Amino acid sequence: MSSENKIAAIIARHSGREGPLLPILHDVQAELGCVDAAAQAEIARALNIARAEVHGVISFYHDFREEPDTRPVVEICRAEACQARRVEALIPAAEAAAGDRVRLESVYCLGLCGMGPSARVGNHLHAGLDEASLVKVVNQA
Ligand code: FES
Repeated sequence: MSSENKIAAIIARHSGREGPLLPILHDVQAELGCVDAAAQAEIARALNIARAEVHGVISFYHDFREEPDTRPVVEICRAEACQARRVEALIPAAEAAAGDRVRLESVYCLGLCGMGPSARVGNHLHAGLDEASLVKVVNQA
């Protein structure tokens, strides 16, 4: 399915809903990785609003991206069991190791609750992490 068709399907899914712009933007970013200029124009046209309005919302919320983020991603579990195993104490070192090169994402359970703290890079799961091993995971992402 082309990007245009995906966007059209997302817009159709939210048609008739009150305040559809934000949910549409979230879904477009989730499916396409960003809300680029072409997507903004298509959304504006479909909702009969100014493109500047769409762009304004994207600029206001830092979660939205206008270009794909191609950095490697390390997902770190921050759900209850991993919190109980002190994942929060590892975050500053992970952030320092990530810098601008790696994107850290918080996720809420990777199914390794008894072996946390846990992280995932692509299809690879990492469990029983301490600061040094999490930094290594980030550095190798
Ligand atoms: S709570 Fe972290 S893996 Fe389940």
